[in-house]
Amino acid sequence: MSQKHWTLAVLPGDGIGPEVTRAATGVLQDCAGKFGFRIDLVELPFGGNAIEKCGHPLPQETLNGCLKSDAVLLGAIGGPKWDSQPLDRRPEAGLLAMRRALGLYANLRPIRLREPLRGLSPLRPRAECVVDFEIIRELVGDIYFGEHKIEGHGADEHARDVATYSVPEIERITRFAFARARRRKHRVTSVDKANVLATSTLWRRTVTRLGADEPGLNLDHLYVDNAAMQIILRPEQFDVLLTSNLFGDILSDEGAALAGSIGMVPSWSAGSGPPLVEPIHGSAPQLVGKDMANPCGTILCISLLLRERFDLPQAAEMIEQALDGVLAEGIRTADVAEAGSTVVSGSEFTKRVRARIEKYGEAAQGA
Ligand code: IPM
Ligand code: MG
Repeated sequence: MSQKHWTLAVLPGDGIGPEVTRAATGVLQDCAGKFGFRIDLVELPFGGNAIEKCGHPLPQETLNGCLKSDAVLLGAIGGPKWDSQPLDRRPEAGLLAMRRALGLYANLRPIRLREPLRGLSPLRPRAECVVDFEIIRELVGDIYFGEHKIEGHGADEHARDVATYSVPEIERITRFAFARARRRKHRVTSVDKANVLATSTLWRRTVTRLGADEPGLNLDHLYVDNAAMQIILRPEQFDVLLTSNLFGDILSDEGAALAGSIGMVPSWSAGSGPPLVEPIHGSAPQLVGKDMANPCGTILCISLLLRERFDLPQAAEMIEQALDGVLAEGIRTADVAEAGSTVVSGSEFTKRVRARIEKYGEAAQGA
């Protein structure tokens, strides 16, 4: 992208969403100053707060604003206030509608144990073990978007959720995963439950067929139960994990534990409309108002945005170096603290990251 002026739709959402998006947009503005681009932020209601303000989790105004932007930054949605609402009136329904409306069929979740956090991963990966893989999750199909129904009364009450996949839906996410693997170590592990499910049978057949046209690619298949076990036993074997919507949802939280905390993981969703970045941690109602939330996942969303959308890999690199530098100093939010760490608030952590960016910027300008 040669353009130097972008619009970012910012959807702070609920719970800790507003505080982590504030941290991330601050970092983004620092980068704009250093790398000579301009970014206009357009804040829009979304999720539970939009239900309160506008009666709908995804108001038309918000959708239009997103469609007009170059990218979307989302904080988090949901909270106990809306937990007893029917499925179609919960904040989550807005998120699913947004994914559909923006055509965001591909969701990338990088699972990376950053070096300063090595001692913290619950699995204590061996010193030589590199945890660095990408989950590529299909995001607009599967059981998420089929019929959800509860019928009958009393002992006759029954429920169903319908899972569907078509060949073109599987093909496009498979191509996306193959393209990612070409930029990495050329390994794709496709996850399914083809020993039980029809959708998975079609999934495996389709992925296998496309894989036959990719001679340089090392493609294999795992049943999801085995994949869940292998992520814990030997995470270093993975490069790109290709999953359906539901399996990717589950395995990405498991992967996040390997990265030290769910607060460390960003995500990137792409498709026909503007891409959307969001941390995967959710709205964490128990942390609201305490300034304890880990801003790393959302700050890493900015790094993804700069790398994948704005073609500014040096800016992305600078953010990650600043973040690793602060973590290596032992400055940590509570979720990633270990013996000897200095525990700081989320806003103090962000301040430290921004101070480092400021310093790198000066060094680069002086060079
Ligand atoms: C995620 C979340 C969402 C999902 C929820 C909030 C609907 O868990 O992005 O992983 O299930 O996709
Ligand atoms: Mg999830």
